[in-house]
Amino acid sequence: MSKQDKNIKYLFEPRSIAVIGASSDKGKIGHSVMNNIIKGGYQGKIYPINPRGGEIEGIKAYKSIMDINGEIDVACITIPAKFVVDSVRQCAAKGVKYGIVITSGFSEIGNSEDERKMVQIANEKGMRILGPNIFGIYTAEVSLNTTFSGSAIPSGGLGIVTQSGALGLTMIGQATVGNVGLSTIVSVGNKADVDEADLLEYLITQERTKVILMYMEGVRDGERLVEVLKRATKVKPVVIIKSGRSQRGAMAAASHTGSLAGSDAVFDDIIKQCGALRAENMKEAFDWSKFLSNNPLPRGENAVIITNGGGAGVLATDACEKFGVNLYDDMENLKTIFSPATPEFGSTKNPVDITGQAKSEDYTKAFDAALHDPEIHAVLGVFCETSMFTHEDFDRAVEHNYRQFKAAGKPIVFVLLGGETVSEYTRDARRKNIPVYEDIYDAVSSLGAMYSFKRYVDEKDDEIADVAIDVKAIDSIVDGARRDGRSFLFSHEGQNIMKMTGIPVPKSLIAMTIESAVKSAAVIGYPVVMKVVSKDILHKSDVGGIALDLENDQEVISGYEAIMRNCRMNMPNAAIEGVEISEMVKPGTEMIVGAMVDKTFGPTVMVGLGGIYVEVMKDVSFRALPMARTQIMEMIKEIRSYPLLMGVRGEKTRDINALVDTIIKLGAIIRNCKGISDIEINPLVIYEQGMGARAVDVRIILSKEDREVR
Ligand code: COA
Repeated sequence: MSKQDKNIKYLFEPRSIAVIGASSDKGKIGHSVMNNIIKGGYQGKIYPINPRGGEIEGIKAYKSIMDINGEIDVACITIPAKFVVDSVRQCAAKGVKYGIVITSGFSEIGNSEDERKMVQIANEKGMRILGPNIFGIYTAEVSLNTTFSGSAIPSGGLGIVTQSGALGLTMIGQATVGNVGLSTIVSVGNKADVDEADLLEYLITQERTKVILMYMEGVRDGERLVEVLKRATKVKPVVIIKSGRSQRGAMAAASHTGSLAGSDAVFDDIIKQCGALRAENMKEAFDWSKFLSNNPLPRGENAVIITNGGGAGVLATDACEKFGVNLYDDMENLKTIFSPATPEFGSTKNPVDITGQAKSEDYTKAFDAALHDPEIHAVLGVFCETSMFTHEDFDRAVEHNYRQFKAAGKPIVFVLLGGETVSEYTRDARRKNIPVYEDIYDAVSSLGAMYSFKRYVDEKDDEIADVAIDVKAIDSIVDGARRDGRSFLFSHEGQNIMKMTGIPVPKSLIAMTIESAVKSAAVIGYPVVMKVVSKDILHKSDVGGIALDLENDQEVISGYEAIMRNCRMNMPNAAIEGVEISEMVKPGTEMIVGAMVDKTFGPTVMVGLGGIYVEVMKDVSFRALPMARTQIMEMIKEIRSYPLLMGVRGEKTRDINALVDTIIKLGAIIRNCKGISDIEINPLVIYEQGMGARAVDVRIILSKEDREVR
């Protein structure tokens, strides 16, 4: 079920809950859940269900859910797997809206049949299943804790959605230790029915939730997740930790686009495209979540570093570059602002170095100057521990200034480098939710995450870039190839599709004999390139099926002979149709552009540095379709080789517009032509601004069967 669930509120704010398998036995999960619900202060109706009846934790227990008179929004199921399907059937008949199935023993151990059955039975009656194989749900909105967590859950503004139950339980512990209050924590387990996107729908609008943290192992419906995530991140930060890297299947071997698209690389880029913040590890995720929950967003890009140590300032500068924090560099203004707070032998350049003799009041003076200047939007205070600082001095320099900045709506983070005093102070300050770190990179990483979020929120929703293409004509080429028993198109067929779509390709002709090869070369004009045409040979250069830079008739003759010899030797069983003679294109900047149907995220495009080293360099970037022209530009800017397109060593800027247009066109093909799964142009040669691009080599792979075009 991948559509929006209009009842989702009842999962987070149920008016009544039944606990199926509630038990008086303190060693059982059914007891912990009952106990947590009662202790957590839930005010709705609680119905323990146990075949023995009687009372559980002082509340009347029912032998069956059918014996209850009132309406039940949620049933929390904690009975062995073999009884769950029947229990769900009863719940569905009773009109329960959500089943929270804590029980394990389903698809995670191969028992997919019962899992499928339980969802089908539930869905038929409009009931939905969270889980199975989960630890339950905590929701501050109605003070409901249906988990079997051992610790009380602090309430606050962080909403956590986790695929791993066990890790989720540890997150509750970490939240308590780190003084991070939760608005909710939900475990999705096997995601048999309800998934992250359903839960996000609710968390987007729920006011209590200021930041969302998601732990994911796999994505079920990537296209829907992208759609919901994009909306969520416009409203509040979403921090994601994802584990598990899997190989793409057969397609990976068939094209560069496929093999470069290790699903994690695609996930990483697409998550970024959606404005979500991907954390490396749990610590970073909590650091970011806490920082983003408690601090105001910067109003602009100008950050300053204020420090008492030159080395620390340099490290902080490096960290700012790494995490995308822009340092304010108006030297004149910096001098005006910070001179009164800096000794003669210090520096007002950014980092502002108030030198090793600085006391807490000197820091306050410099912080004050930054606070009151509208050109400065964020501050990083870096302290190296010196004899000037006791615990109390840190208190004055950090807590006091933090409160001032927070009240003024300007973010500030602190780094304290040193020993015992620093560690003690940091622990205390963090308990008060003051953003104090003992590592420069940790501090700047949090500020960088905040900037990434802000930039995404500020981004305009530009119009989606698309072009009209002749789908029928392309489909008929695909059908012809399929009739021929091929799972890919010949190069000339690919070139034809490019021409139909308006992507310039080199002139080319097909020749079946040496004589016609020579004639074709004369028609095209020297120098030419010759490539084998065979349905059995996809990677032509690997078998010696390509001859480059042929200058005259004699070279065409020997090139033809060499290609035939190589192919017969390396692939003796390949059926050879002839050769393709093409114009030798002028050199330019070689890029790779691809479009594919990703098995998780659907139609996806890729751009990177092209040529023969693509797989070694892996300098590529991915995006899910559709997207706007501005987003395509961002994708291009993300690759390390972007400066090559801007022109190096006196070269002119390359025709980046032609590159963007090609990406849009490949995107239109992959979105609309249901028989194509993978297109790759490598190289796409890009010329100077205004001179366009040429698709030199085009590979198109067909989908096994026509896929659904959304
Ligand atoms: N309706 C109501 N109650 C029922 C019932 C039914 N159809 N069938 C059994 N019960 C009662 C039992 O009588 C028992 O109550 P009692 O203690 O009063 O006798 C209670 O439900 C629990 O049943 P029991 O057979 O004792 O099971 P259990 O507590 O040993 O185990 C689970 C049940 C769900 C905890 C276990 O099967 C399981 O899946 N554990 C793993 C959970 C997990 O790790 N989840 C993922 C977390 S991340």
